[in-house]
Amino acid sequence: MLGFGLIGRVAAEIRRDIAAARTRDPAARGVGWFEILAAWPGVHALLAHRVAHALHEAGVPLLPRMIAAVSRALTGIEIHPAARIGSGLFIDHGMGVVIGETAELGDDVTLYQGVTLGGTGFATGKRHPTVQDNVTIGSGAKLLGPITVGHGSKIGANSVVIHDVPANSTVVGNPGHPVRVEGRRPEGPDADWVHLPDPIADAIKSLASRIAALEQTAEGADDGNVHPLRVPDGHDDPAETEIAHRVNRSVGPNPAGG
Ligand SMILES: CC(C)(COP(=O)(O)OP(=O)(O)OC[C@H]1O[C@@H](n2cnc3c(N)ncnc32)[C@H](O)[C@@H]1OP(=O)(O)O)[C@@H](O)C(=O)NCCC(=O)NCCS
Repeated sequence: MLGFGLIGRVAAEIRRDIAAARTRDPAARGVGWFEILAAWPGVHALLAHRVAHALHEAGVPLLPRMIAAVSRALTGIEIHPAARIGSGLFIDHGMGVVIGETAELGDDVTLYQGVTLGGTGFATGKRHPTVQDNVTIGSGAKLLGPITVGHGSKIGANSVVIHDVPANSTVVGNPGHPVRVEGRRPEGPDADWVHLPDPIADAIKSLASRIAALEQTAEGADDGNVHPLRVPDGHDDPAETEIAHRVNRSVGPNPAGG
C-alpha cells in the first residue's frame, strides 16, 4: 500500500515536471512527454535530485552525492542533495546552474542556464537563497547569500542579487536593483540608479584639469620665462612656483633655436 502511494506520488511529480517544461519552454510545445523525459537536461537533473534528496533525507551516506555528481556530469546542472525544491521547477537549457545546499525553491520556479543560487563565503548554516513560488531567474544571474526572492518576481539575465527582492518585482543589474514593483517603476530619492554620483570619475576629472595646467606651464617655459603654476582658483601657490622654476631649469635652452 505504501509502495503504491510512493509510486503514485513520484508519477505525479514526474508528470508535473514534464508539464512545466511543456508550458514554459516554447521549444517543447507539441513535443511528446516521452521525448521531453528522454532529452531535456533540466528534467533529468530534477529527477536525479528528487532521488538524491529522498536518500539524503533518509540519512543514506555517499549515494546522494554520487547521484548528484553523475547528474552534474551529464547535465551540467549541480544541485546539492540537501537543497529543497518544490514542484514544477523548470530549468531551461541548464548548463552551469548551481543550487547550493541550503537553497529553498518554492513551486513553479523557472531557472535559465548559468544561474547560481550560492553562498557568499565560508559561513555555515543557512547561506543560500530562498526563492518563493512563480519566480523566474534569467540566464547568468547570481543570487548570493541567505536572501529571499518574493513570489512572482523576475530576475534579469546576468544580474547579481545580494539583497532581498520584494514580491512581484523585476530586478536587474549589478548590484541587482528593482526596476518594477507590482508593475510600476519604484519611486523615491533612492530609485534613480542610473544617475548615481561617481566620486572616482570626479577625482579623475580634477586630476586631468591639474595636468592640463601643468602642461601649459611647461610649454610657457620654452620662452625662457618662469610662469608660476596657476591653481584652479586663480591664486599662485608658492610650492608650485618652486616646481615651475625646476621645470624651467630642467627644460634648458630650446635645442631647436640653434
Ligand atoms: C528581467 C526580464 C525578465 C524582463 O522582465 P519584464 O517584466 O518583461 O521587464 P521589461 O522588459 O519591461 O524591463 C524592465 C526594465 O529592465 C530593463 N532590463 C530588462 N532585462 C534586463 C537585464 N537582463 N539587464 C539589465 N536591464 C534589463 C529593461 O530595459 C527595462 O528598463 P526601463 O525600465 O528603463 O525600460 C528579462 O529582461 C530577462 O532578463 N529575462 C531573462 C530571459 C533569459 O534569461 N533568457 C534566456 C533564454 S535562453
